[in-house]
Amino acid sequence: MSAFLRMSAVLGLAWLLNGCGGTPIEVPAAQARNVAPVLLTPEATDVHSRAKPAEARVTHVALDLAADFAARTLSGTATLDIEARDDAAALVLDTKGLQVSAVTDAQGRALPWQLGDADAILGSALSIQPGAARQVVVRYATTPSAAALQWLAPSQTAGRQQPYLFSQGQSILTRTWVPTQDSPGIRQTWEARIVAPSALRVVMSAEMLTPEGEPASEGRKAWRFRMQQPVAPYLIAIAIGDLSFRPLGPRSGVYTEPSMLEAAAAELVDLESMISAAEALYGPYRWGRYDLLVLPPSFPFGGMENPRLTFATPTILAGDRSLVSLVAHELAHSWSGNLVTNATWADFWLNEGFTTYFENRIMEAVYGRDFADMLADLGWDELQAGLADMDGGRSPDSRLRVDLAGRDPDDGVNDIAYEKGATFLRTLEELVGRERWDTYLKGYFDRHAFQPQTTSGFLADLRTHLVKGDAALEQRMALVEWTEGTGLPAQAVHRRSPRFPAIDATAAAFAAQGAGALPAAEVLAAWSTAERVRFLNRLPRQLSVERLQALEQALQLRTQGNSEVLFAWLQLALVNRYGPAVAQAEAFLSSQGRRKFVLPLYTTLMGQGSWGQREARRIYAGARSGYHAVTVGSVDKVVGAPSMAGAP
Ligand code: BES
Ligand code: ZN
Repeated sequence: MSAFLRMSAVLGLAWLLNGCGGTPIEVPAAQARNVAPVLLTPEATDVHSRAKPAEARVTHVALDLAADFAARTLSGTATLDIEARDDAAALVLDTKGLQVSAVTDAQGRALPWQLGDADAILGSALSIQPGAARQVVVRYATTPSAAALQWLAPSQTAGRQQPYLFSQGQSILTRTWVPTQDSPGIRQTWEARIVAPSALRVVMSAEMLTPEGEPASEGRKAWRFRMQQPVAPYLIAIAIGDLSFRPLGPRSGVYTEPSMLEAAAAELVDLESMISAAEALYGPYRWGRYDLLVLPPSFPFGGMENPRLTFATPTILAGDRSLVSLVAHELAHSWSGNLVTNATWADFWLNEGFTTYFENRIMEAVYGRDFADMLADLGWDELQAGLADMDGGRSPDSRLRVDLAGRDPDDGVNDIAYEKGATFLRTLEELVGRERWDTYLKGYFDRHAFQPQTTSGFLADLRTHLVKGDAALEQRMALVEWTEGTGLPAQAVHRRSPRFPAIDATAAAFAAQGAGALPAAEVLAAWSTAERVRFLNRLPRQLSVERLQALEQALQLRTQGNSEVLFAWLQLALVNRYGPAVAQAEAFLSSQGRRKFVLPLYTTLMGQGSWGQREARRIYAGARSGYHAVTVGSVDKVVGAPSMAGAP
């Protein structure tokens, strides 16, 4: 058996410290062990990683890095613990744009290594011949263009005094700042020591061991972290900035820049209730603390489920808690995604579809069915729009399990994974009844905790633990049609909001008759964010200037502070080439970089002939340097990079 993986000892019970609180959390052996031999089956071969985990596999990453804000680099070492076959020829790591200067064993003896050719999507394989070494030290530095990292000048922060750094690892960007096996199917424990200017605080998606930092060289502090539960590398995250903290509950709190702390804490008062609701549904929260980091506005996503520390856009701070479903979503990932993780990006729907379903269940538990139904119904609209964009649901990309070979995993980030995935689970729930379904799902998270999962693995689990040989039930579930078929199965459950028919009728009446058909101002003022969004999205895409002006007035869209309502309005206004909305669109596009808002707005403008294209290029020329690489990469494809002909 010498050729088999050498496994480290299986822990019986591990007691993990619950952050600053110090409350011990019990982690059963099956979850604490970091030894699952992730011998990826052919089905789960990750086309987005060069790693050969069956030969040599990283089990633990220890980072020792210094942040240089002037040079915009992180530099130092990554010490990797590995498990390898005795005859392993190479340990293969994923890297992209890293400047590797040396590779040694733990004693500092040089090990042979080569960097392979750079692939535009995957980067370069770093092949190391470990010999007998089971720990390798990679000395390296990032470059200022590392795609995961955004280095912000003080002017791009709320406080405008200090610089800021944050990372975004999903899907395959961790390799631009950490040399490791960057596949979601290869879980690793990790630790880090980060040195940064003493005016700044470092936070990471891990247990914070030095809440105040430790003195390092002059003017600098060191911060230490550890993650003792094995996680996929896309979940390793860092932020450095002028950060303050406010507790929200016994195991939760919020970090953000000081001037935003009050607003962030007020928006997030329901966080503890959400955590409790999530636990009541699908079992204990297994990560100790749940904190949020509210980032500067260039953060490219609404939220990112970094373990123990969700990263969130400041655009969720609507002032009235109307956008907190995003927090429910990222929290839900603590089960679907972080605990049970898509083995490869082809099964991304296992992360996002489950999470979108779970998010809605949390919202229902905390805010009631009425509210949750509106959100689910908006999701249905998004699904329909997504299917329409995909050749009316005939495109192979409208399958839950997608073929991403040769493509950027970003190509699979769409409404299919989120909303078709959630609709699938909602349909299963209705077929078997909520009680039975919830029992099943709770068991599912337990059975697969801290493990990668594939679509067929999920189906196998479903057959064993839910279907249990009931052939008639299995037939009604149409499982393979759901996971392998394009479009939407006919039995898909559409959860409808009882409030929306009235909204839709108002939209139709307004389109036909104008402002006179709108309800009284007090009624309009009482509309929820979901109702406003539904109303705007249900209006005909072509509206007269009079109608647009009436809308602007009635819904006070000029001064709209709610990012979702503003986005829905700008989409409608720009497609009508409504001049007064251009300045508002420019302000929105220049003040935040969330891809979900930014990309469709530029796309809409680019679809408006030379008028819109001129505006899009002008606005993008001013805003591009403020966006994170993820947003730039997407918008460049639509508007054109500055170096491209015709672009400014
Ligand atoms: N994990 C995703 C963000 C993501 C997906 C980053 C794929 C990179 C690649 C996160 O949980 C997410 O889905 N965020 C959404 C918000 C949510 C409420 C739908 C977003 O950012 O809009
Ligand atoms: Zn998500």
